Amino acid sequence: MTAAPAVKPLDPTKVRAEIPILHQEIRGNPLVYLDNAATTQKPAAVIDAVADFYRRDNANIHRGVHTLSQRATDAYEGARGRVRGFLGAAEDAEIVFVRGATEGINLVANSLGRSIGAGDEILISWMEHHSNIVPWQLLCERTGAVLKVAPIDDTGALILEEFEKLLSERTKVVAMVHQSNSLGTVNPVREITERAHAVGAKVLIDGAQATSHRAVDVREIGCDFYVTSAHKMFGPSGIGVLYGRRALLEEMPPWQGGGDMILTVTFEKTEYNELPHKFEAGTPHLSGPIGLAAAIDWIEALGLDAIAAHEDDLLRYGTEALSEIPGVTIVGTAPGKSSVLSFTMDGVHPHDIGTIVDQEGVAIRTGHHCTQPVMDRFGIPATARASFAAYNTREDVDALVRAVRKVAEVFA
Ligand SMILES: Cc1ncc(COP(=O)(O)O)c(C=O)c1O
Repeated sequence: MTAAPAVKPLDPTKVRAEIPILHQEIRGNPLVYLDNAATTQKPAAVIDAVADFYRRDNANIHRGVHTLSQRATDAYEGARGRVRGFLGAAEDAEIVFVRGATEGINLVANSLGRSIGAGDEILISWMEHHSNIVPWQLLCERTGAVLKVAPIDDTGALILEEFEKLLSERTKVVAMVHQSNSLGTVNPVREITERAHAVGAKVLIDGAQATSHRAVDVREIGCDFYVTSAHKMFGPSGIGVLYGRRALLEEMPPWQGGGDMILTVTFEKTEYNELPHKFEAGTPHLSGPIGLAAAIDWIEALGLDAIAAHEDDLLRYGTEALSEIPGVTIVGTAPGKSSVLSFTMDGVHPHDIGTIVDQEGVAIRTGHHCTQPVMDRFGIPATARASFAAYNTREDVDALVRAVRKVAEVFA
């Protein structure tokens, strides 16, 4: 038997050197950026790709015969191909550029939603981001469909047996997060998809937190839709991706109308454009996909397996060190969790933790992280959350732990 090839470990100091924003001081201390689940910082290569587009190629796409428009179109459509490869989709036509994961979910809820009726069920989980709750609630309000919620256990893991009990022939859509932003739980999305398909439901996976941490292959997962946001994967904000299986996207009506999504328009009738343009109404975020493609190049040069191994090390190291501080409780301890360290401290509001560690130059997020039902499930108003990316180091974790010890001293 041949052993699996060893993952070439990444050198976080070298990786860090490629992120310009990290090289500054905050309140007299070196910046330690641990708010990556909210948004990631950008490598110079991504910043340069966007700047170069505006310096050299900027023009509106698809409609122009002049050279700049052709160059801009080639760059934009080339980026679509890059995303297709990164996500393992079969065709470029299955990659729709949207503003972000939120817009991708809203697109599906509004377009596929036209086939949903009273009494149909949408199944989500207790750990969803508000972006994967509210669009379905709006759909239920419009149609009389019913929102069902699969519970999680005390570690923050989905209870698969309960999920399965909620599946029935009434379930039309299962919408599930790949990796939880507040707990770090990684869901068994392939298994979830198989079980949902067995009752005929369509499956949407919210990958906003997954695509910078692990290799994703939508065909391997088998899901019908997958959404993610570029800004969470070292790319620009305001651009994201909806992957949809061609057969479904073909059947689904457009969500928004406007330029570029049409073939012909008369006052009597409009013929829609082919995929994926049918879902990209109006002038899109022209430079966004170009920045996203540069981010994908950057991620792939590091290697997602190497990134995952590095972040797992940081997570283990940070969990051990934080757990030793009296009064600290880690929230979210599911086996196989990834890159997120949510915690509370006895007698200290998370906002106070965030404010005090900021004095030390450490950026973390505090609050409900747009997952209020998760906070309710654990009976807490909020957590403090450190979240890791490829460019974080063990020294960053040491700085976090020192700063949290200071919080403990202040409140002792
Ligand atoms: C799990 C998850 N889903 C969806 C979103 C929404 O992403 P965006 O705001 O980029 O649309 C987020 C953002 O934090 C998230 O963490």
